[in-house]
Amino acid sequence: MQTPKVTIVIFGATGDLAKRKLFPSIYKLYQNGKIDEDFAVVGLARRPWTNDVFRDNVKASLDQEVSTDENVDKFISHFYYHSFDVTETDSYNNLHGLLEELEGTYQTSGNRIFYLAMAPEYFGSIAKNLQSHGLKNSPGWTRLVIEKPFGHDLESAKELNNEIRVAFDEEQIYRIDHYLGKEMVQNIEVIRFANGIFEHLWNNRFISNIQVTSSEKLGVEERARYYDHSGAARDMVQNHMLQMVALLAMEPPINLSTDEIRSEKVRALRSLRMIEKEQVQDYFVRGQYGSGHLDGQELRSYREEADELAQSNTETFVAGKVMIDNYRWAGVPFYIRTGKRMAEKCTKIVVEFKDIPMNLYYKEEPKKHPNLLVINIQPNEGITLYLNAKKAGAGSIAQPIQLSYTNNGIDGINTPEAYEKLLYDCMIGDTTNFTHWDEVAYSWRFIDSILSGWAATEADFPNYASGSMGPKAAHELLEKDGFHWWQIS
Ligand code: BG6
Repeated sequence: MQTPKVTIVIFGATGDLAKRKLFPSIYKLYQNGKIDEDFAVVGLARRPWTNDVFRDNVKASLDQEVSTDENVDKFISHFYYHSFDVTETDSYNNLHGLLEELEGTYQTSGNRIFYLAMAPEYFGSIAKNLQSHGLKNSPGWTRLVIEKPFGHDLESAKELNNEIRVAFDEEQIYRIDHYLGKEMVQNIEVIRFANGIFEHLWNNRFISNIQVTSSEKLGVEERARYYDHSGAARDMVQNHMLQMVALLAMEPPINLSTDEIRSEKVRALRSLRMIEKEQVQDYFVRGQYGSGHLDGQELRSYREEADELAQSNTETFVAGKVMIDNYRWAGVPFYIRTGKRMAEKCTKIVVEFKDIPMNLYYKEEPKKHPNLLVINIQPNEGITLYLNAKKAGAGSIAQPIQLSYTNNGIDGINTPEAYEKLLYDCMIGDTTNFTHWDEVAYSWRFIDSILSGWAATEADFPNYASGSMGPKAAHELLEKDGFHWWQIS
């Protein structure tokens, strides 16, 4: 196992992401011996904090998110704070000095990760400033990690990409999609390509449809400003949902190199059927949550969550039928569904195999029990295969049975958090589970076509109750094709 030596510079170190995900993930890497003792973390933000205040905050975040041991104080002593204005030349010059000093203290060989965990409007100028102030000129490697949103549409994403590419090469850019760090999302490829019983059937001759659901119980929380500008299509579909579709649809790579895997994903995304403005209603459903009940609590509607949302027409739910127009998938719908304030927190994939022409072993309706492969991504991790078999003593009558494998059930397996894995990948220079620019571009092209269709029509919001599985139209979307959403795990 490689134990990289590195200085991680976090822009936005007083923010929520740093607190909830980054500090705990770096600590886990440290605890698991995946980062060398020679490392430093530099936190940047506007607040005039000292190292001590910053370290107290890091400690508080660790206490809340992970279980710490006696090494925690030593770990925290590697954290430094630098008050920073992203538009100020002095800030970059001072940072340069600090990095050189820390590289002397910690022998990190000049390896630097610049992690942008802050408002996207500054991504481009930070990248340029890092270049022009010489912060990329170190004896080691330099990498840029970027959180989403990567643009607001294809045009703005292109602009942002051009700005960043002036300073960083594509191989140095790590665009985070945290779904790609999830254990079972990474497993899609393995389940598909390491099993003859699936891969031989993984096409339009044997699969009738594939359903990808990512539902959340949470509402908009404290993020009204960001979210209302974004909506579920940009927030979840452009990235996480389409990435899962790409992994389900891609052709087998010729080897496991980053380039080969990414290029197969790009080919899948390139085959997405573009939806004409006038046809968007036939393929996509949008929703916004109204009031409702969930876990015994009464919940407000989206429009009641904050004053600025009172008139909002932003979608908090999307369901869609995605078609992949290539030889393997012609005619097979990939249904996707994601939303806030739904009945459960769950991400799963259901692959529905075509039914046999007639089933003699079921005497009563429903007689159709297609085989299903369920890939549970969260909260449970595992796979379940739905088969039909005769249970002992049941005569010749078949019953659906399940073969299940769960990661959660294995003692001692504590699957690392997505961020922990992705940070480690970045430190060892593996870009496989980060999004290449071409993937971003093809995803935006698809999302733009849907958004432009929606922009041309009135939304009928709110149209689903908090605590439900979305608007009626999301069910009708499948019903008109003769399918339904499988509520199973
Ligand atoms: C983020 C979105 O990318 O993913 C959030 O911005 C969403 O709105 C989150 O809540 C869901 O992630 P997870 O890992 O909880 O499914």
